[in-house]
Amino acid sequence: MTRYCIIGAGPAGLAALKAMLDSGHEVDCFEKSDTIGGHWNHDYDALHLITSRQVTGYEGFPMPEHWPLFPHRDQMLEYFHLFADEFDLRRHITFGTSVDRVEPLPTDGPVGSAGWSVTTSDGVRREYDGVLVANGHLWDQKIPDIPGAFTGKQVHSGSYRNTGDIDGRRVLVIGSGNSGCDLAVDAAQDHFDTHIVIRRGHHFQPKTFFGKPRSELAWMQEFTFEEQDLLARLMMRVSVGEASDYPGMPIPDHRALADGPPVVNDLLLYWVQHGRIKVRPGIERFDGKTVHFSDGTSDDFDTILWATGFHASLPFLDDDLLVKQDGVPLRVGGAVVPLDLEKLYLIGMIGARGPQPPIYPVQADLAVRMIAIHEASPRGFVPIAGPLTQAQSHEWRIDILRPLWLEQVEQTKVALQVIAASQPVGASA
Ligand SMILES: Cc1cc2nc3c(=O)[nH]c(=O)nc-3n(C[C@H](O)[C@H](O)[C@H](O)COP(=O)(O)OP(=O)(O)OC[C@H]3O[C@@H](n4cnc5c(N)ncnc54)[C@H](O)[C@@H]3O)c2cc1C
Ligand SMILES: NC(=O)c1ccc[n+]([C@@H]2O[C@H](COP(=O)([O-])OP(=O)(O)OC[C@H]3O[C@@H](n4cnc5c(N)ncnc54)[C@H](OP(=O)(O)O)[C@@H]3O)[C@@H](O)[C@H]2O)c1
Repeated sequence: MTRYCIIGAGPAGLAALKAMLDSGHEVDCFEKSDTIGGHWNHDYDALHLITSRQVTGYEGFPMPEHWPLFPHRDQMLEYFHLFADEFDLRRHITFGTSVDRVEPLPTDGPVGSAGWSVTTSDGVRREYDGVLVANGHLWDQKIPDIPGAFTGKQVHSGSYRNTGDIDGRRVLVIGSGNSGCDLAVDAAQDHFDTHIVIRRGHHFQPKTFFGKPRSELAWMQEFTFEEQDLLARLMMRVSVGEASDYPGMPIPDHRALADGPPVVNDLLLYWVQHGRIKVRPGIERFDGKTVHFSDGTSDDFDTILWATGFHASLPFLDDDLLVKQDGVPLRVGGAVVPLDLEKLYLIGMIGARGPQPPIYPVQADLAVRMIAIHEASPRGFVPIAGPLTQAQSHEWRIDILRPLWLEQVEQTKVALQVIAASQPVGASA
């Protein structure tokens, strides 16, 4: 009998689990913590979604209508509990058990074609016909190498909970992605002397236009992707103005929103104009509690909040199985398939712009289609990762425009139909 393993019971793992159960598979899901919901269990208290309630849930399972337009972290977590309960997912999950090793079973064929061996933290080794990896890509905290040493308190956004984590009054937030903006606003609103490092200009997009998220303005959807980008910039010009309207703010070197990082935050700019958040350039070096900036200025700080992002890590896989670019495993097949690795499916190793939960069932569906092809073959294996690696471009991005990723998904569905049709005994995709 065929049996499958899922690593992680966060939003991606839950979607993968439902898809595998719906398609009649035997599945063991291992979750290293004692609960479902992934990082939403320990994100900072001030966190609200940047994507709206209506578009952020899984397709066919909307968030409750009475929730706010931009739900709080706790509501997001509750949503995943509602989902797990509705589809009775918990009984398939082994909690408190981490997957420590994932190794291809020996074979003369392509790597992974004979299945995978999975060793869990309780020392048990099991063999599976396929592994769906949903361990998240926003947990391995990235702290850049900067000359010198800072001797004040340091906390990464992945560990920050609230302003109780800040020592002293002077705080420097490093990084201006969505985490950096949220942390700087949190500190400023609690009257800390707050500074933020923004080393290159970008467009801080407001959460709403005309009181509605961009994705819910019906008339916007009439336009092409490029036209929507232009319209959003024109509306931002009216409500936000330009970078030069905000003291210290670097000027973006790109025009289109699509060409810069997707940072959505109204309050950072608000507090910059109220003098409660000061914008600083890149850091040259640390010296005790003194931070030297690239414009020649320096200041003392009590606490640094690193909001410098995360590494995409698969610590249970041998590094030489993966081909990486800038530390990110290269993938094909809608970012589900690591190059040339058969029967290993990455669910959630992509951040196609817009709401994330709807991505995972789409990726899980691709994995289910690939599994169906293997299972329909008398040998239990049909080359899929190999041909996709040959035919498709190798995706290096996590942050990718949604239409590009959706195009990759559609191309993959077609490729799988071709692979299935070329099999002697009616494999179907
Ligand atoms: C601060 C923040 C705000 C965000 N805001 C939004 C937003 O507004 N809208 C939006 O759409 N998206 C948002 N996102 C994106 C968010 O990452 C996704 O929505 C989603 O939570 C990712 O789910 P995941 O299951 O891939 O990862 P995770 O949530 O990280 O879950 C991974 C799970 O795998 C488990 N695990 C890891 N390794 C192992 C192992 N070896 N063995 C067993 N279990 C393991 C972990 O314990 C965890 O439970 C935000 C992300 C962050 C960090
Ligand atoms: N409210 C929300 O919904 C919310 C909140 C937080 C996070 N998220 C999501 O979670 C994901 C991770 O976001 P994130 O903000 O944690 O990470 P991120 O998007 O990777 O941003 C990292 C930031 O760190 C900066 N940085 C890196 N190295 C630096 C250095 N040496 N000096 C100065 N700055 C440096 C980057 O600047 P450069 O651009 O110059 O490299 C960038 O601004 C994203 O998908 C995000 O949308 C959502």
